[in-house]
Amino acid sequence: ETAEKGGYETFMLKEIHEQPQAIAETIADRTARGVGVDLGDLGAIDDAFLRDVRRIVVVACGTSYHAGLIGRYAIERWARVPVEMDIASEYRYRDPVVGPYDLVVGISQSGETADTLAAMRLARESGATVLAITNVMGSQVTRDADGVLFTRAGLEIGVAATKTFVAQVAAMYLLALRLAELRGTLPAARLRELIAELKRVPGSVAALLERGDDDVQAIARRHYKAEFFLYLGRHIGLPVALEGALKLKEISYIATDAYAAGEMKHGPIALLDDDTPVVCVATDSPVLEKLISNIQEVRVRGAHVIAVATAGNDELQEHADEIVAVPATDWMLAPLLAVIPLQLLAYRVARLRGLDVDQPRNLAKTVTVE
Ligand code: AGP
Repeated sequence: ETAEKGGYETFMLKEIHEQPQAIAETIADRTARGVGVDLGDLGAIDDAFLRDVRRIVVVACGTSYHAGLIGRYAIERWARVPVEMDIASEYRYRDPVVGPYDLVVGISQSGETADTLAAMRLARESGATVLAITNVMGSQVTRDADGVLFTRAGLEIGVAATKTFVAQVAAMYLLALRLAELRGTLPAARLRELIAELKRVPGSVAALLERGDDDVQAIARRHYKAEFFLYLGRHIGLPVALEGALKLKEISYIATDAYAAGEMKHGPIALLDDDTPVVCVATDSPVLEKLISNIQEVRVRGAHVIAVATAGNDELQEHADEIVAVPATDWMLAPLLAVIPLQLLAYRVARLRGLDVDQPRNLAKTVTVE
């Protein structure tokens, strides 16, 4: 087992460090052209269907759902196709309106999650075209879909998904860029720029992993005894906050909540007292100023602000107690970087609490029951 961990103390830490490769492999040949995206053989899902599709519905669970949320922002912004999101376990019980003009995207790293499979089947029976995004060849989801887009993260053993998450996010970006290319919704130069920027992300993740862990360890040492962490984000930072909160509760058993920062004053602000750690996903974006004013509201309540910010932007210095900087990229791609310190924070806190991060209590890697 030590050999399988490749010198790392746990599978999860190994998998966190395999993320540059997971992203690079997922985008590799698909972005080789540089001017567009090749998704390869998507089975029955052809370019004409993708060009004319009227609506996309994403169904998934847990971390895969968070990857879908990020994809929604990218597809709507770049390709101008409306995207609906559904938690797979809820989807089939609300008699959803879905049919032949819809593309339903089921995201499941294992390809065996019962709720996601059931949601996809229902959509297909209703006449929708179904695309599966999965990390496992030959998994059930590949048999139940009209087409498959594989992530190439390699086998993930840790119960908490890390490298499969960034690979799913990369796959959703590829889908968004392909749709934009087919529909002509982005100028060619912008498309080229986004692809070039996406190709630079694995190198930036590697650089971040090399130096970011020390900063995170110091933060973890300060807060690992806390009973509650709040995570905040806006726009594309919101799914990152949701994912960071899920990671921490899964492996450290600390209660977490994740909120759209603008919702704070509608309730969750009541939870804050002196020194509550509040993790803010504050990478550069058109809504950063709005987020900063939300951070100020938090801070006057005495909470302790930990910000994930873009390197080179010093604006957060005066608003946060601790900052982890992530390399700059196109702001829409920032989730691939911003999630890394949150995975590491969950990891370091759980380790300081002496927990088994690879096999957290009550959780299974694959949930094959409803
Ligand atoms: C992630 O850390 C969790 N273990 C869990 O939320 C997981 O993402 C969910 O069960 C979905 O799994 P899937 O991607 O294999 O369908």
